[in-house]
Amino acid sequence: MTSRVFLPLLLSLVALAGAGCSRAFSATPAPAAGRPQLIASTATVATVGEFPWNPLKDPSLDDSKLSKDIIWGFKIFIDTPGQVPHLTPGKVSCNNCHLNGGQRERALPVVGIAGMFPEYNRRAGRTYTLTDRVVDCFNRSQNATSIVGGENGPAGPTPTSKEVLAVTAYLTWLSKGFEVGKNPPWRGQNAIAAANLIPMEKLEPARGEALFKQHCVSCHGEDGQGVLIGEKKPGPLWGADSWNDGAGAARVYTLAGIIRYSMPYVTPGVLTDAESQHLAAFINSHPRPSYPFKDRDFLIEKLPVDSVYYPKR
Ligand code: HEC
Ligand code: HEC
Repeated sequence: MTSRVFLPLLLSLVALAGAGCSRAFSATPAPAAGRPQLIASTATVATVGEFPWNPLKDPSLDDSKLSKDIIWGFKIFIDTPGQVPHLTPGKVSCNNCHLNGGQRERALPVVGIAGMFPEYNRRAGRTYTLTDRVVDCFNRSQNATSIVGGENGPAGPTPTSKEVLAVTAYLTWLSKGFEVGKNPPWRGQNAIAAANLIPMEKLEPARGEALFKQHCVSCHGEDGQGVLIGEKKPGPLWGADSWNDGAGAARVYTLAGIIRYSMPYVTPGVLTDAESQHLAAFINSHPRPSYPFKDRDFLIEKLPVDSVYYPKR
């Protein structure tokens, strides 16, 4: 997964895509003294295997159980099906959406967020710890529910299962030195501005399909299942091996916010807010695994309008 392996193909893809002018911009201020900087949102796929914070290179990590968990959590994050197949029936890694180990601007970065938890979770209508959040990611984005059968069942993932604790240890290590209770400036930047949201009934999946053919198939394939590029493969965008229909990415506006700033990987930022929404409507018009407990979501807060896989309430 090194950029060396990736480079020849990358260059040909860049050539294919043409010299697109990037409309992405930086949300990250100058880094605090001695602290690594996030990968810029304008970086291309050349940085795919780069981790500014890399636990494998942290000399302060030792033989302790905690250090080993931080390292394992990092490995789980970047290769979830390989490390924890019993919790990942599909082919999606945390890293597919949270690029560069969750250390890239505007690709759902998770650096410095641990001190924001516990936090109110709108979907659950209750206060969430960071481990609660990680359990949800496994159950929904990794579709763990389809193997373990139940939410918080004995087979996990639960807030005390070892895989969840390892990932939480990695996320907390990524927050070392950050102030508790202070939102890092790059958090929550993957949203399309409310004023630019297109009403759901006006979205055109057919237009999204044409954009997909133009901008995405070189890496994601006509069938959306991902093409092997060097040693790297994007996760399946729909179908049995993809994230399930209770995941954040199964919401159209949420997915549009991911795509808008992180894809296409050769020229991130070239899509408009509108194009990203049509693309997301196309991707989320496909079948994906069912999250079996959708009826327990959004019981306190209103069901968001872009939850296209949920029965209307
Ligand atoms: C299919 C894309 C996708 C995958 C795969 C994914 N996530 Fe996420 N993640 C999201 C989205 C989107 C959000 C934003 C919140 C939402 O709407 O769910 C998020 C939010 C989070 C948050 C909260 C961030 C914050 O600032 O509060 C954490 C922590 C997190 N994910 C960890 C993980 C972990 C760990 C995995 C792997 C086990 C994972 N995610 C897999 C899409 C994904
Ligand atoms: C140059 C190759 C390339 C192009 C072009 C590209 N992607 Fe990606 N995409 C990737 C890679 C690689 C990943 C996984 C990133 C990682 O794990 O580091 C990814 C991840 C994603 C994800 C996260 C979920 C998943 O299943 O992997 C989404 C959504 C996505 N791409 C959508 C798009 C859309 C929509 C387009 C077209 C506008 C596009 N991509 C164009 C390479 C590409």
